[in-house]
Amino acid sequence: MNKTDMIPHFTHHILCIGAGYVGGPTMAMIAHKCPQYRVTIVDINPERIAQWNSDRLPIYEPGLDEIVKAARGRNLFFSTDIEKGIQESDIIFVSVNTPTKTFGVGAGMAADLQYWEKTARQILESATSDKIIVEKSTLPVRTARAMERILFSTQNGVRFEVLSNPEFLAEGTAIQDLEQPDRVLIGSRQTESGLKARSTLAEVYANWVPQERILTTDIWSSELSKLVANAFLAQRISSINAIAVLCEKTEADVSQVAKAVGMDARIGPKFLNASVGFGGSCFKKDILNLVYICRYYGLNEVAKYWESVVEINEYQKEHFVMTMLNAMFNTLAGKRIALFGFAFKADTGDTRESPAIYIATRLIEEQADLVITDPKALVNAKTDLKGGEGKVQFIEDPYEAAAGSHAIAILTEWRLFRELNYERIYRSMEKPAFIFDGRNVVDHSKLYQLGFNVYPIGKPVLTHL
Ligand code: UDX
Ligand code: UDX
Repeated sequence: MNKTDMIPHFTHHILCIGAGYVGGPTMAMIAHKCPQYRVTIVDINPERIAQWNSDRLPIYEPGLDEIVKAARGRNLFFSTDIEKGIQESDIIFVSVNTPTKTFGVGAGMAADLQYWEKTARQILESATSDKIIVEKSTLPVRTARAMERILFSTQNGVRFEVLSNPEFLAEGTAIQDLEQPDRVLIGSRQTESGLKARSTLAEVYANWVPQERILTTDIWSSELSKLVANAFLAQRISSINAIAVLCEKTEADVSQVAKAVGMDARIGPKFLNASVGFGGSCFKKDILNLVYICRYYGLNEVAKYWESVVEINEYQKEHFVMTMLNAMFNTLAGKRIALFGFAFKADTGDTRESPAIYIATRLIEEQADLVITDPKALVNAKTDLKGGEGKVQFIEDPYEAAAGSHAIAILTEWRLFRELNYERIYRSMEKPAFIFDGRNVVDHSKLYQLGFNVYPIGKPVLTHL
């Protein structure tokens, strides 16, 4: 370690490249739990950094404001000076985005690793002392090898050790997930220096995570485990959603089926909520990545199996639109429809891959007049629906959004939507009034009694027509 690079009273100088949904909260938690470390987050986007340094953080996440504001300026810093950040640190987390490739070989499937590679080159150029490089971004298996090849490409005397440490936090519960993770996974090379770097990183987490929850593996198993965890989670949702469609035909109730099935300890009760489809930046991207890797190795049957998880999800969104269209006399043209929720899940303003984007776009195609309400996601919704101007309004107050509409479609499970006065809403709507509950969050029989025609997911329809 080059001692002149270090400010003495911190035991580690941690850097994170990429101040997004993953990097921001994860580093805030390390800074919060480890006042003995100096944690700096850098990003190429100066606006994002300015937001992290302001009163209004760039992402909404329950509990995040408190820990950022308490640590900022003490041992947590946000900066655009990537070079200085690299020079001063001994542990570098890389948390830049790895979107699905939109061009060339693997377009629509493979991960676009251009930011990843650029970051590796930047580390190599700027580093003047030894570093542990931690892959935080979700990456195709064997990416660490590519990282190593770049970092080891010059003989400048600086040594790097590459670790894989995927992040399993879910948005909306990020702080809780970081504070009490089911497990922390660290993959390394099985060499002496690899194992040493791995225990250095394990010690960072051991400041607040019990030892038995810190799992160490080889580097390839760690990289692959992250893709597989997301694929399994998404697969549960596609499984229950596929059954929901069958329930709609057979008068079975998907919630009761999920409960009965989930009570089998081997299956378990979590993550079995039928819905309008899963969204978020990870599930689709990571599964397509897995599919691409399988195809690359000639494992076409395995690829097809996982691809169907995404296909069912696409089907589920279209099925929801078709249910709306059929229920509302096969025409939506000129009808005001209120979308309750645009975020991909509750407690976040994030709308990446939100099923609401697809559904809104399809409803606009059907020439409906949309009104969108969401407590945190309207800014992102406006960006997502650019071009739909004139056909879409964005209204913060759900009562105002619903007034005069023919239908409400609940697309995000915000608690707020459970607690509204639906009697008041019913009175303000056009009749017959429809409610399509894409998240099964409201009391269907109560709404039916108020006069609504109710269309849940995977449950018998309650209609006065
Ligand atoms: C992203 C990926 O989506 C996820 O798969 C991975 O596990 C972690 O990174 P997220 O944090 O949600 O997750 O992404 P995003 O909010 O887009 O943040 C990435 C940040 O990296 C952005 O702020 C972007 O400006 C920054 N970035 C990107 C750099 O600093 N340098 C680059 O070269 C590219
Ligand atoms: C996911 C993984 O859970 C997390 O471990 C990983 O690090 C990143 O990807 P995230 O996408 O933030 O996290 O949220 P998650 O809670 O997994 O929800 C994903 C989507 O599935 C949301 O659209 C959610 O509404 C939907 N979902 C979830 C269902 O439709 N039904 C369920 O039972 C659970």
